[in-house]
Amino acid sequence: MNKNYYITTPIYYPSAKPHMGHAYSSIIADFFARFKKIDGYNVYFLTGTDEHGLKIQRSAEKLNKDPKSFCDEISKTFEDLTKTLNLSNTDFIRTTEERHKISVQNLWNILEKNKQIYLSKYSGWYSVSDEAFYNEDEVEEKEGSKVSRSSGSVVEWVEEESFFFKLSEWEGPLLDFYEKNKNFILPESRRNEVISFVKGGLKDLSVSRKTFSWGVKVPSDDDHVVYVWLDALTNYLSSLKYPDENNKLYKNFWPADLHIIGKDILRFHAVYWPAFLLAAKIKPPKRVYGHGWILSGDEKMSKSKGNILDPLEIINTYGLDPLRYYLLKEVSFGNDGNISEEKLENCINSDLANNFGNLCQRVLSFAEKNCSSMIPDHNFMEEDLIILNSITDTDKIRTLIDNQDINQYMNLIVDKLFASNKYFNDQEPWKKKDDTLRLNTIVYTALELIRKITILLYPVMPQTSVKILNIFNIKENLIDFSTIKNNEILEKEIKINKLDILFKKIDK
Ligand code: MSP
Repeated sequence: MNKNYYITTPIYYPSAKPHMGHAYSSIIADFFARFKKIDGYNVYFLTGTDEHGLKIQRSAEKLNKDPKSFCDEISKTFEDLTKTLNLSNTDFIRTTEERHKISVQNLWNILEKNKQIYLSKYSGWYSVSDEAFYNEDEVEEKEGSKVSRSSGSVVEWVEEESFFFKLSEWEGPLLDFYEKNKNFILPESRRNEVISFVKGGLKDLSVSRKTFSWGVKVPSDDDHVVYVWLDALTNYLSSLKYPDENNKLYKNFWPADLHIIGKDILRFHAVYWPAFLLAAKIKPPKRVYGHGWILSGDEKMSKSKGNILDPLEIINTYGLDPLRYYLLKEVSFGNDGNISEEKLENCINSDLANNFGNLCQRVLSFAEKNCSSMIPDHNFMEEDLIILNSITDTDKIRTLIDNQDINQYMNLIVDKLFASNKYFNDQEPWKKKDDTLRLNTIVYTALELIRKITILLYPVMPQTSVKILNIFNIKENLIDFSTIKNNEILEKEIKINKLDILFKKIDK
């Protein structure tokens, strides 16, 4: 069985500092990366910044900075965010790095060699904000300007010599590819969107620009820079040292298992990217998942509305793990969701403090008083085994993860937390003081439940979970998902380490 797993986030434009939307994509990807890691996979998890193109060049010009030093500064804030979010990424790629340029130029050369690229002239609409070309029927007039119907961003008219990629030739092969790889695009609604777009007919795609210079040069023509999307998408290969196809990284990790992206960039990942790859005779990735938007209140975040949510502010106030938990549990994955302080506070109070925190604290303080903070002995009865055995189905959980069914995964955790609290209440160990073995067994069962649920929570709240598992001396690199199958991992008479309060209830 192939135990390698390659997952990516989009690479972010360093045109302004990161916001909650960026943090969301990254946290989602980290969740899957960490799950796969504790399930025994070698995980390659890539993130980074997308630094070329007119959008970045203009942002730098506005501040009178040269684009490279502008990118250096902002890319650093994205790299810092990977630490703040406690991402387990293996690499952080910047498209201005030499290793990346080599890959892009190589891919270009192959496309040219395969007769997929020709020189012509582009005239049409272009959105600098989306770095996207739009057809006439994709733009509309709004408040005196032409804007893209889909994104609402302003478009400008472009007429220039340009290299084109023969995208139109790939309409049939792409439809065939989607048919054979039913789950290439998820969720299903987005798959249907993409298929109907492709069925509507594909035109050749302009893949170079001539009127500015901030980009990777077209190898055969210095006057052109490679279209920023062809440049950016290649990051998924360049981190693996493509074009050196014999190196271990490329061999082990390509094709990527999962590209996590926002729904705004689906067309680039689900149409252009597989088309470029098929044309270069490189295998396309296995899956592209287009998640929804994180809204601020009910609106999309934007500078002009002044409603940008800063992940750092929320983390400073509430902590990282509650934010991660909220985004994974409260946002229906695949759909838009929102975050407000009130909702976050409710979630911290009810799920984290009352449900999870309470379970840990009450069981541990009971164990401290009644079992001298040692793992007690046990002799399971049916009711103990029923609840323990309800958290053993590793294959079912793996399927949830492989279908990116985050919400079912989170529901399962919440259910098990409730059930465990209920178990401890119903068993009333405080009334069993003259039946030591029964009292011990209830505590042992509750400790095993905490161990199992905390393992499930590790991809969601790594810092908190590591703290909890430390009470059992289970260190981070030894966390093993498959051990939830077993009901008797904890060894008798081993000391239970102390645990500080996990989540403080917020007074409202
Ligand atoms: N640079 C391109 C991606 C190239 S990938 C080869 C880009 N960058 S971006 O910075 O504008 O946005 C990247 C991603 O950030 C989006 O696709 C999405 O995953 C995430 N988000 C940005 N704003 C968002 C929200 N408001 N909500 C959720 N995610 C959003 O596009």
